[in-house]
Amino acid sequence: MTPIGLFYGTDTGFTEIVVKLFVEEFELVAPNLLTVHNIADGPITILQQYEHLIIGCPTWDIGQLQADWDKAYNKLDTLDLSGKQVAIFGLGDQYGYPDSYCDAIGILAKKFASLGAELVGFTPTEGYEFTYSEGVKDGQFLGLALDEDNESDKSPLRVSD
Ligand SMILES: Cc1cc2nc3c(=O)[nH]c(=O)nc-3n(C[C@H](O)[C@H](O)[C@H](O)COP(=O)(O)O)c2cc1C
Repeated sequence: MTPIGLFYGTDTGFTEIVVKLFVEEFELVAPNLLTVHNIADGPITILQQYEHLIIGCPTWDIGQLQADWDKAYNKLDTLDLSGKQVAIFGLGDQYGYPDSYCDAIGILAKKFASLGAELVGFTPTEGYEFTYSEGVKDGQFLGLALDEDNESDKSPLRVSD
């Protein structure tokens, strides 16, 4: 099977908790398929090594990307991601920030689509309580939305599904 690269950013560590859930899930199905990278660590060009990418980014500062993704954002334009499959997951706080819940999913979805990637892994908005998200299009999240602030108990199932 083709290797999958998971790239994430985090300010306060919640995203790392979710990354562990992904790692555990993949260990069960296909050990060593998944390689995890903190976006803060490496040159952005590492993304191009993978045909399949999982991108994890929490929303910060009311509708903004997490700081390391924010730094990487413009550098992404130097990449050709044509034909690559990209699944995005985002973390947010639906009760604290209901008007910008997981906006980062939408910001990155637009960017990766503009670089030629095929977005996969859209999920329903049922079961969440929020008023607006940049991450929603046609009634679906353009990825997977997680909420470690309020619903960490739901994350394992949301990840494995
Ligand atoms: C100042 C501040 C601003 C935030 N802004 C948003 C936001 O606009 N939308 C959202 O869904 N979550 C927002 N959050 C919640 C974070 O996304 C959430 O706590 C997330 O799990 C943090 O992930 P991390 O620990 O990996 O950095 C905000 C949190 C703080 C403290």
